[in-house]
Amino acid sequence: MKDERIAEDPSLGEKSKDEIVDTLLTLDSVQDLEYLNWTIQEALRFLSPVQATSQYETTQDVKIGKYNFQKGVNFAINFDALHMNSSQWQRPQEFLPERFNPQSPLYLTPDGKKRNPFSWCPFAGGKRVCFGKTLAECNLKFIGTYLTQFYNFEFEDPSKYANIYPHAIVGKMSDKPVNVRITKRASS
Ligand code: HEM
Repeated sequence: MKDERIAEDPSLGEKSKDEIVDTLLTLDSVQDLEYLNWTIQEALRFLSPVQATSQYETTQDVKIGKYNFQKGVNFAINFDALHMNSSQWQRPQEFLPERFNPQSPLYLTPDGKKRNPFSWCPFAGGKRVCFGKTLAECNLKFIGTYLTQFYNFEFEDPSKYANIYPHAIVGKMSDKPVNVRITKRASS
């Protein structure tokens, strides 16, 4: 369900934390934290921080899939549609980091095929690819790692958020406060 979020499943934080060693993370060692990386990828799929690309314009008549576009047509790529595409993702409405594990059956499309390489692209691609992609990924890995290493994040009242869906705007801000309880982990 869409309402399954990281904060509601403490085991996600635990699984990521299990991987984290007590030494200083480096650009190399952070790549070895597989579950953390799958969780970040799944978070970027499940609730893409940017909802769509900016407007593009076709420079010639083109057929994309079953659609014909004339030259000069404006269009944008909707990441939600891409990331929730049920022909590419098994159980797309569920938060399942394992779908990025090549060993998992969830790694494949519902038909058991390899996913289209563009089925996941929260940073867009090509000439207009996100300029800050590498910085953003590093921040997510390092800051996310340290925060989950030392703190627990829980919704104050999970039932309150069960049926709240993100708003369809860039940044996906809710118009109501989302109360999260942050506590120091006992072992840290
Ligand atoms: C998780 C974090 C981020 C996501 C998901 C994200 C996503 C995107 C996407 C989808 C685009 C393409 C928009 C388009 O079609 O024009 C974009 C463009 C861009 N992003 Fe990010 N971004 C993130 C973080 C950052 C950060 C941290 C920076 C800078 C420090 C940054 C700088 C830019 C710039 C400058 C562009 C415009 C590139 C161009 O048009 O040539 N982004 N981003």
